[in-house]
Amino acid sequence: MQTKILRINPITPQISKIRQASKIIKSGNLVAFPTETVYGLGANALDPKSIKKIFEVKGRPSDNPLIIHISDVADLGMLVVHIPDTAYKLIDKFWPGPLTLVLKKSKIVPKITTGGMNTVAVRMPENKIAQILIRESGVPIAAPSANISGRPSPTTSEHVLDDLSGKISMIIDGGKTKIGIESTIVDLSKKNPMLLRPGSVTLEQLQDVIGKITIHPILQERKTKLVHRSPGMKYRHYSPNAKIILIEGSKDKANDKILHLLAQFKKQGKKVGVMSTENFVYDSDVTIFIGSNFDVIAANLFKTFREFDARKVDIVLACGINRKGLGLGIMNRLGKAAYKKIKV
Ligand code: TXA
Ligand code: MG
Repeated sequence: MQTKILRINPITPQISKIRQASKIIKSGNLVAFPTETVYGLGANALDPKSIKKIFEVKGRPSDNPLIIHISDVADLGMLVVHIPDTAYKLIDKFWPGPLTLVLKKSKIVPKITTGGMNTVAVRMPENKIAQILIRESGVPIAAPSANISGRPSPTTSEHVLDDLSGKISMIIDGGKTKIGIESTIVDLSKKNPMLLRPGSVTLEQLQDVIGKITIHPILQERKTKLVHRSPGMKYRHYSPNAKIILIEGSKDKANDKILHLLAQFKKQGKKVGVMSTENFVYDSDVTIFIGSNFDVIAANLFKTFREFDARKVDIVLACGINRKGLGLGIMNRLGKAAYKKIKV
């Protein structure tokens, strides 16, 4: 199959052009499209045959549920059986935007879409192209990140093409995604709200709106029997081929450790990369300064993983950042990608 690339101006998207993509969704096929977080791989959320294609193309385990994207808050009602007050409060504040809510699913949502669960994850993206695509398709669109399962999420159409060229009908190229890490996920299907995945809607912002919210034990690196509340958590993720070593501690100590490991691995003949949040010069084979501000780090993170792979490094040394605000989401992705974590 030839993958068609449809270039759309993200600021003034041409509706007539996007209709070409909607036709593909309506005919039961797949379209990759930009959202404000990462690129998604979309299909009609209510059609099991279309959804099956998503799992096949990504090589995604069938028990890992998908997020359903809507363009109008009114469409939430048909996907879930009940909308609690906490959901209304969060929707009011953060939709459209990078926040996904998990609620009890209604009968029209096929089990294949939710990986067999009786809950469903829903979000309303802010990106205009995504909104028009959903609206013009006339159906809610299920979309995981548009990467091969286990690879870093795509933040440009080129990343999607690298992973899925020839496997899907169309990619809408709407430029680089604004945020760069996936949406925050909050489970509201039980009595106590629980944060399942941190993102750019931060824990602090959620607490401001709904008060108490439990953090899933896995996010705190604690052993738990609650894995079933978000199946995606148990899979290794976001991983580049290079082995990432994540070093956490005070700036000085972490930097000393990087210098020490760098020398050690070079002696072993390894090709070593450093991913740095300080504009330091290292004697590494590849050094990528990812930014020092959290918004910039998030926007560059997955692209940087892919760049280390393209430059074929064996090992990447990366230092941790503070877990406040967006830092929690960034550290979650770094932690999931890491082959080893060292505290200094
Ligand atoms: O920003 C995003 O959320 C992007 C864009 C494309 O919208 N999408 C995305 O989808 O990151 P994906 O499939 O890569 O990640 C979805 C995560 C998985 O970890 C999955 O386990 C979790 O959401 N999830 C989906 N449905 C769930 C449910 N009913 N209960 C708990 N977790 C769920
Ligand atoms: Mg994903």
